[in-house]
Amino acid sequence: MGTLNFSEVVGSANSSKKLINLLRGHVSQNQRCWPWVSLLTRSRCRWPNTSLLPTQLLERGSQKVFQTPSISNPALLYGPDNGDGKLRVNIASWLTQFFQPSAPVTEDRICITGGASQNLACLLQVFTDPVYTRNVWIVSPAYMLAFRIFEDSALKLRAVPEDEEGIDIDFLRREIQKSEGSARAQGNNEPRIKPARPWSKIYRHVIYAVPTFSNPSFKTMTLKRREELVRLAREYDVLVITDDVYDFLQWPASLTAQTLSIEKAILPRLVDVDRYLDGGTERDGTDGFGNTASNGSFSKICGPGLRTGWCEGTEKLAFGVSQTGSSRSGGAPSQLAATFLAETLESGELQRYLYDTLQPSYGRRYQKMVTAINEELIPLGVRLPQTDRDVVGGYFIWLTLPSPLKGAMVAQRAKDDENVVVAQGEIFQVPGDSEHDGTHFENDIRLCFAWEEEDVLAEGIQRLGRVIRTLRDEHDGGRQKATQQASEGSARDFW
Ligand SMILES: Cc1ncc(COP(=O)(O)O)c(C=O)c1O
Repeated sequence: MGTLNFSEVVGSANSSKKLINLLRGHVSQNQRCWPWVSLLTRSRCRWPNTSLLPTQLLERGSQKVFQTPSISNPALLYGPDNGDGKLRVNIASWLTQFFQPSAPVTEDRICITGGASQNLACLLQVFTDPVYTRNVWIVSPAYMLAFRIFEDSALKLRAVPEDEEGIDIDFLRREIQKSEGSARAQGNNEPRIKPARPWSKIYRHVIYAVPTFSNPSFKTMTLKRREELVRLAREYDVLVITDDVYDFLQWPASLTAQTLSIEKAILPRLVDVDRYLDGGTERDGTDGFGNTASNGSFSKICGPGLRTGWCEGTEKLAFGVSQTGSSRSGGAPSQLAATFLAETLESGELQRYLYDTLQPSYGRRYQKMVTAINEELIPLGVRLPQTDRDVVGGYFIWLTLPSPLKGAMVAQRAKDDENVVVAQGEIFQVPGDSEHDGTHFENDIRLCFAWEEEDVLAEGIQRLGRVIRTLRDEHDGGRQKATQQASEGSARDFW
């Protein structure tokens, strides 16, 4: 069974059934990469349903900007390296309210970005070296569109498995120690290609994670693991980059909950942990850059077309990333969009939209999908991760199929037989490093509940249930036939 060709994500041409897209992607076919990733190129498998785009809210924000020359003139010119000042202030106060960190988030900790992906590239440009930085350790299954960003910086990708609590710290520690051993043996003791500059430093390792409501694993890393991870990062000179892009999209896990909004974060981000743990980022003997960078984004809460986000870290780290060459030439990206967003946060409308519209809407979608999964798929042996959580969120649900079913087979048959599109687990494997236990995902699939219409989500799961039943019956039929043939064979041999 090959890999599902996602260029056919428009659905099955032969099916009389309406396409149900639980992947949400479209494709251009011109990129080199690993087989399954190349089929997913330019895939946008994490789009919000268009009914959830806050168009009017942004229109009001933009009107305010264009009716006020003192805002619109600078907005249409080159801007500061660290981005629109009003947006930085408003993000800082919103993050303080939502995450309630040990000390308020100040605007000096914030740099405006062109979104999480764009800023991942900037962080790597400023804080890594292709040789001295030994590896980027990627929590797996992983957000696959990050792979190329790491490759662009010529970093060596390594996969780190997750368990029910999140990242497997013991595995990571062991592998980092090995990596350090071979770096020492090679005399790789200082950055030679990109020496540190006054605004930056070069870290020896990078860890990339999506700790809360992860894309794709749907898991949330426990507090204990977050603290262990920060300690490990400090020990081995690691920059932990987290995409904290789903933290705001949360709701009670209960499938009967009526109130589907929660206005405070359930857990501190890694960047918050770094601030309070064991003396924080300013403890004695440190360089002040810290070991964590949080990539925030307006893509999931407003619309990805805005291409606007923010990075939070220590003041030194936030300043450092603002000094990326491309920002020094013309200022932070997304200058105009940033001013619209500054107004929507200033008026409090975006926060209300998030709590009163987005969280309940996504929460309802989640309830519908998981209710159907419980009815249709769990009895077939399909498994969900972390079923004991009080709060869940994000865009995705990760399913492990009953053995011996393969995600590729299920995805292909779901498309061919039922016109349902899902993502097979292999596309989330770290290229070139999927040998270890827990780093290959041929038995898994990912479903997205953010894009399709709410009233077809249950039907999508019912169709998937039919596919899994059919494949199971085919497998059982094949086994029976084989057993029968074998016993007929041995009976013949006997006679
Ligand atoms: C984990 C993760 N990081 C980053 C992104 C992209 O964020 P942005 O649009 O801000 O670049 C996504 C979108 O799917 C994502 O799931």
